[in-house]
Amino acid sequence: MPARRTPRRLPDGFLLGTASAAHQVEGGLWNDWMRMERNEPWRIGDGGSAELAIDHFRRYREDLEMLAGMGHSAQRFSVEWARVEPEPGRFDLSALRHYADVVGTCRRLGMEPVVTIHHFTLPVWLADRGGVLDPEAPRLFARYAAACAETFGQDVRWWVTINEPNVLFSLAYAEGVWPPHRRSLVLALRAGTGLLRMHAAAATALHRVGGGHGWRTLVSIAHHERPVRARPGSVVAPLVAWLPDRIFNRWYLLCCVRGRLLPPGGTGQVVPGLLGSLDYLGLNYYTDERVRFDWRAPTRLFVSPDPEPSVPRSSLGWAIDPGGLHRALVSLGERLELPLLVTENGVADEDDRLRPGFLSDHLGAVVDAMADGADVRGYLYWTGFDNFEWLEGYAARFGLVAVDRGTLERHPKPSAELFATICRTHLIPSQAGPGRAEGRVGVRPAAQRKRI
Ligand code: FCB
Repeated sequence: MPARRTPRRLPDGFLLGTASAAHQVEGGLWNDWMRMERNEPWRIGDGGSAELAIDHFRRYREDLEMLAGMGHSAQRFSVEWARVEPEPGRFDLSALRHYADVVGTCRRLGMEPVVTIHHFTLPVWLADRGGVLDPEAPRLFARYAAACAETFGQDVRWWVTINEPNVLFSLAYAEGVWPPHRRSLVLALRAGTGLLRMHAAAATALHRVGGGHGWRTLVSIAHHERPVRARPGSVVAPLVAWLPDRIFNRWYLLCCVRGRLLPPGGTGQVVPGLLGSLDYLGLNYYTDERVRFDWRAPTRLFVSPDPEPSVPRSSLGWAIDPGGLHRALVSLGERLELPLLVTENGVADEDDRLRPGFLSDHLGAVVDAMADGADVRGYLYWTGFDNFEWLEGYAARFGLVAVDRGTLERHPKPSAELFATICRTHLIPSQAGPGRAEGRVGVRPAAQRKRI
């Protein structure tokens, strides 16, 4: 497909910025992940730990100034539950004040804060009583959510209750590679239902606090969409992809939309507060995956990766396909009839060679999706600063800004400049990048969109 001559343009008011998570950047934390990193350091690929991470807890003002200086208009970060409530029922006011200052600093710098209250990690006191499987977890999560909402006040409109519930229940309870290292599909579905009840309880609390004060409160999860395809040509291909796609990509979302625990995790039980818990959909999109049937991989729903050799890949081996972002935005926007916010999209790239094209192509896909009816409100690149990438340690570099592991000095990469220009002009440079979105589908008139 020939490159476009006229650059694509993002609308005024479209939010542009980056996303991060407390455990990956802050340092000085004590939670279930840190306990694992200390006790079982061999689990982290490069032997690193988030002990100091990038010291963002102390350097947040300079870091946020750097991002705002690049023209960013939004910033997604997460509040660490373990800091805010170090013991059950004991809220640490200085921790809450710290995050209130992060919110206030974003506002002063002209960046819309998008606040996540659960991004993979748990306080150890909750992990020790069953974590997301604890029947009390929803009530406890709602109490913590309400404390955040009361403290931050009307400065926060965009909330994310839980980051990627599907990734969490798959990696922690089915594949068992994240804490608490369980390997059972039954437990994974129970964890999924626990995470649905937690989301519903927190959404109710956030709406209640916001509504009570007359604040504008927009709540979502950050849904990870990773489309699964089998090698075309085989008659069983659709069957192979169906189960993982259904459970990983659709089950949690469908439960939220219907307000019920649907099979296979439930039998239709209504979860109080779940219906209407999404005011928008936060979408995390990185890649799509080609798979093949593998009877030895029950905890991965009987599929293993079957990479296409011709497709370009990130340094983590993830296929790069901006068309997948276009398809996800258009189809989810159409099905859910909700406004969308790209809460994460990024590429692991050691030398910043892939990132400029990745940014142009994926932002181009966002503009095309909007032209095709998706009501997209913003795009948050993962991530501002190279940071602690879970089991990869510091080896996977997603940041716009490099961080020297010896001195912790920050050095913007060339792609940070490109993104800054896009943030300032709202124009996306043309790129004939790989797998770009082609064709238009399902145009829905603006009048039918839900207003928020
Ligand atoms: C997402 C996570 C985020 C980061 C990126 C690369 O799945 O939400 O914390 O690790 O992947």
